[in-house]
Amino acid sequence: MTTVQTRTLQELATDAATRYAAANPASEASFERSTRFLPGADTRTVNHYAPFPVTIVRGVGARLYDLDGHEYVDFLNDHTAGLYGHSNPTIQAAIAGAAKDGLTLGGPTPNQQRFAELICGRFPSVERVRFTNSGTEANLMAVSLARAVTGRGGVLVFDGGYHGGPLTFTGPDRRLNVPFPWVVGQYNDAEAARSMIEEQPDRLACVLVEPMLGGGGCIPGTRAFLGALRDATQRSGALLIFDEVQTSRLAPGGLQEVLGIHADLTTFGKYLGGGASFGAFGGRAELMDRFDPRRPDHFSHAGTHNNNALTMAAGLAGLRDVLTPATVRRLNDRGDALRDALNGVAARLHVPALVTGRGSIMTVHFQRAPVRCHGDTAATPQAARDLFHLEMLLAGFWIARRGFMSVSLAHDDQDCDRLVAAFEVFLERYGTAIESASPRARSTAGPSRSPYGRHP
Ligand SMILES: Cc1ncc(COP(=O)(O)O)c(C=O)c1O
Repeated sequence: MTTVQTRTLQELATDAATRYAAANPASEASFERSTRFLPGADTRTVNHYAPFPVTIVRGVGARLYDLDGHEYVDFLNDHTAGLYGHSNPTIQAAIAGAAKDGLTLGGPTPNQQRFAELICGRFPSVERVRFTNSGTEANLMAVSLARAVTGRGGVLVFDGGYHGGPLTFTGPDRRLNVPFPWVVGQYNDAEAARSMIEEQPDRLACVLVEPMLGGGGCIPGTRAFLGALRDATQRSGALLIFDEVQTSRLAPGGLQEVLGIHADLTTFGKYLGGGASFGAFGGRAELMDRFDPRRPDHFSHAGTHNNNALTMAAGLAGLRDVLTPATVRRLNDRGDALRDALNGVAARLHVPALVTGRGSIMTVHFQRAPVRCHGDTAATPQAARDLFHLEMLLAGFWIARRGFMSVSLAHDDQDCDRLVAAFEVFLERYGTAIESASPRARSTAGPSRSPYGRHP
């Protein structure tokens, strides 16, 4: 009989896909039907994975339920947007109240004012803020503002950065990106970034950077790197834009508060809308006040749903009544403990796996080589990510195919312990195959020499 030790990771992933398909006939039928109306059966590429994604019918607390009746502990939380869990009563009441008071009101509202005041109070470099409908839009507005106020065109971004659909620097396909004159640097290379900024002082409008790469592999930016961006932009007159769409949840005042590095402009999204569609950009008053229509030289910023009643109510209630600074710290402490526990299991079993990230956001990589920039993640075989994803789904844990996970307020210690236990089972079962596929093993020894893992 073929054992895990003699089968390749790809064969093991194919086997897992067969078991997954057999367990999800209703989702498969739904997927097939949807492809008749929706290209690829969905409207969001990141939702897709082979052989087909399951159809999610309901979410309660930290749990998701699919069309075939499976329950999952949700450790993806919609790529961090679901920080509050799926049925936080405070958020639900706020949304119900807003719906009662009417939708599409088409004017300034008290909730918009309260929410803006709260955001400006929470994030130290944000003196004024404007709302959008998504993080993508927030980044487009921030970069456009930087280009307009500096009168320069260029935008420095980093390999592995993800700032929205048409602002993608994570993969080879950048054909749909907004046609700005992008300059792409290497994340965490402080000296190279410094030269790139200082070499083109009159051409570079801004630097757009995530203080921790999220979709690019949960790679924290070093203080040296982010500090170099701050120094160099200050000298060259370019604006520094921190994309804190994900990282703003990592500390009460965002990651820039922890780093003590203040951006000129900051963008937000995801969880801050309380689970409703959301985006925002803000920063120094002198810059943001260019959107004040009372000024003769003002810029226009439109958007039918920018201050939509549901988002303003849900976002305000979440930030004011649920996500207090103490709760932010507790959430991220739980995330740190979870990541430590996962890394502890990998170290104990001597499997090439490491979990990167910070606080409540993390990504599992199947490699020993350190992950300092997006390129480093190529050491993880794609088949290992595919196998891990499918096995975790089959074990009842909802995570992203790329190994991305986040902790929500709905999780408790038991949920985290169960995830760690499932990770251990996975590594015990597949450690040998992962070790055999790792670059060092491929270049030196065959699978039989691997000392790691246990027979299934
Ligand atoms: C860091 C970062 N910036 C921007 C975005 C885009 O936000 P949205 O999907 O709301 O457009 C995302 C979404 O994943 C993100 O992770």
